[in-house]
Amino acid sequence: MKDISILIKGVGYYLPSSVLTNDDLSKKVETSDEWIRTRTGIAQRHIAAENESCSDLAFQAAQKAIADANLQASDIDALIVATVTPDMPFPSTAAILQARLGLNNVMALDINAACSGFLYALELARCLMQNEHYRHVLVMGSEKLSSIVNWTDRTTCVLFGDGAGAFVLERQEGPKSGILDGALGADGSNPSVLCVPAGGSMRPTTHETVDANMHYVSMNGKEVFKMAVRLMAKSVDTVLERNHLKKSDIAWLIPHQANLRIIQSLAQLLEIPMEQVFCNVDKTGNTSAASIPIAFAQAKEAGTFKPGDYIVLAAFGGGLTWGATLIKY
Ligand code: UT7
Repeated sequence: MKDISILIKGVGYYLPSSVLTNDDLSKKVETSDEWIRTRTGIAQRHIAAENESCSDLAFQAAQKAIADANLQASDIDALIVATVTPDMPFPSTAAILQARLGLNNVMALDINAACSGFLYALELARCLMQNEHYRHVLVMGSEKLSSIVNWTDRTTCVLFGDGAGAFVLERQEGPKSGILDGALGADGSNPSVLCVPAGGSMRPTTHETVDANMHYVSMNGKEVFKMAVRLMAKSVDTVLERNHLKKSDIAWLIPHQANLRIIQSLAQLLEIPMEQVFCNVDKTGNTSAASIPIAFAQAKEAGTFKPGDYIVLAAFGGGLTWGATLIKY
């Protein structure tokens, strides 16, 4: 059997033009630039316009990625959108995006693995693309988290932002390169650690759920923090071991951009110097499924990667879900 490579042919990202700084937030809730910076490393986040939806953000990032890949919309054979803030419960944001982008009537689906969603989507695409019918797959993370954040809750509203990121993957026969492997996990034994409690079939929307603020992100931050570092490190170890690589082989770590302290703890556990870790959390806040493709696209734009570099992506999020993806650039 011939080796199949799943190459990152093009990337793109989009951040809404409106920026909300920590000082802006300190006028809405009892917080300060100093508290937010020291606990999270975040200085600002981008916020979508009221009439800008998840598919609008995704549309911008997707167009850039398709152009970056030197392809046309008609070359795309499947579309996967990772999101927890779809335009509506159904149809999927991916289906809406299929028409807007002018893709052929290809398979289009959303997946929800919260902040790990993009890595889950990449792994699904990698496996799908072992099949020769899928030559180019558009994989995206897109989030309008500002639409599910309680802007009166200082413990969560300071953390999140909006944005979208996209990869166009290309299937090629030849020595293995590109997306090499993904190690993913989930543990749903305590979903309330990080969730939106109502609005689904378990607790449909009622006046009471709205009055009780149950349609907003609810989180036990300390619990998530502890799990995040341990589970991301474990996934990275797994993916390295499976591919006979050492930590010292990693040229770049691109972690989910949730909190600079989590990123620093992870880098320390993995013995990777912070100079080899790409961070943009100061500028974007946590954009959930969009955070890794945005960070990757910005790193690429800055000329960060060299051909042959081993790049590791690592994520964790609601579910809980977690994972790591190994890339040979
Ligand atoms: O993609 C996954 C998304 N989730 C995460 O990444 C969350 C991971 N967890 C974290 O990042 C951290 O737990 C937080 C940044 C959310 C919180 O940091 P912490 O060091 O765990 O703070 P804390 O929750 O223990 O709060 C410490 C104090 C509390 O006051 P008291 O009880 O000690 O008087 C909070 O009420 O800080 C207070 N506090 C704030 N103060 C000013 C909480 N939020 C704020 C705020 N501004 N925004």
